[in-house]
Amino acid sequence: MIETRYLGLTLGSPVIVSSGPLTQNIVSLKKCEEAGAGAVVLKSIFEEQIESEVSKELESSSEYLDHSSAQEFFLTSSRDYYIDRYMKLLAEAKKELSIPVIASISAKDMDSWVDYAERFIACGADAIELNYYPISSDKDVPGSEVDRKAIEFARTARERIKGPLSIKIGYKYSSLANMISSFEKAGIDGIVLFNRFFRPDIDIEKLEFTSASPASSPDEYAEALRWIGLMSGECGIDFCGNTGIHSGESVVKMLLAGAKAVEICSAIVKNGFGVIGEMNAFLESWMGKHGYSSTSDFIGILAEERRKDGYNWERTQFLKTIS
Ligand SMILES: Cc1cc2nc3c(=O)[nH]c(=O)nc-3n(C[C@H](O)[C@H](O)[C@H](O)COP(=O)(O)O)c2cc1C
Repeated sequence: MIETRYLGLTLGSPVIVSSGPLTQNIVSLKKCEEAGAGAVVLKSIFEEQIESEVSKELESSSEYLDHSSAQEFFLTSSRDYYIDRYMKLLAEAKKELSIPVIASISAKDMDSWVDYAERFIACGADAIELNYYPISSDKDVPGSEVDRKAIEFARTARERIKGPLSIKIGYKYSSLANMISSFEKAGIDGIVLFNRFFRPDIDIEKLEFTSASPASSPDEYAEALRWIGLMSGECGIDFCGNTGIHSGESVVKMLLAGAKAVEICSAIVKNGFGVIGEMNAFLESWMGKHGYSSTSDFIGILAEERRKDGYNWERTQFLKTIS
């Protein structure tokens, strides 16, 4: 009854466990399934992390590796080591779980990473999620160039990766609507709105760089809700809500706005795996109360295109004076 279709896959529940600390080992992945998750997205394999670990290893072995072909060999085999480790988790997850398993790649460009995605699909990944977010900190690079690269990245990925493909992005684009539409035109099957990235902070006593809480709070879902409400009626791409979804109520809201599924992480970190079952139970009971027998009966009914008052999704200002 609470089944949904996302990226061409049938999910028993629209609640997906997002890429992160809960999807990096088989024990935890099994708990996701037992708790009622519709799918899991494995912890991302990070291009930057592998590159930096490989270069650290290269530095410490430089006395043995002064020949460039030896370095090249070392580089390739080190990368293969990380990829093989990821493939092992993927293969184990495919063997142990019956829900779809989505592999996640965090890549800055698609040069070598496409090959890995192909290997993940061959190893049984039900889909690939690209975790994409370049930080545009170069003052000499205009936004148009940042956008062009993102679209190029999506096109290359689509050309090379055979299988369902989604992209998980942040919201800082000058025209998010145009970016979403461009990803759809590039042939991407689904879009996850929005990733919640690492947030820097400062310890003012130690005068040190530190990190803010990695977990979201339950009031952070509004931006994803707005953009899914704005775009889901206009674009055929599958929308998946993410960030700040902590309750069954917010799952229902995302679906009403047009999401086919949601991804959650912090709600489980804070409240345990049981929250997945609670979300499923809430959704089922809400559907019963409102007379819906299938999620497709109500997904997107509040999207901008479907409503006379849909312009409300575009509101950014509080017009009334607060007395
Ligand atoms: C500790 C931690 C690690 C994460 N690692 C990844 C990752 O490897 N890849 C990714 O796409 N998202 C990663 N995320 C982001 C989550 O998948 C999710 O997008 C984010 O936490 C927002 O969802 P939430 O509000 O339900 O937590 C991570 C989040 C946390 C808290």
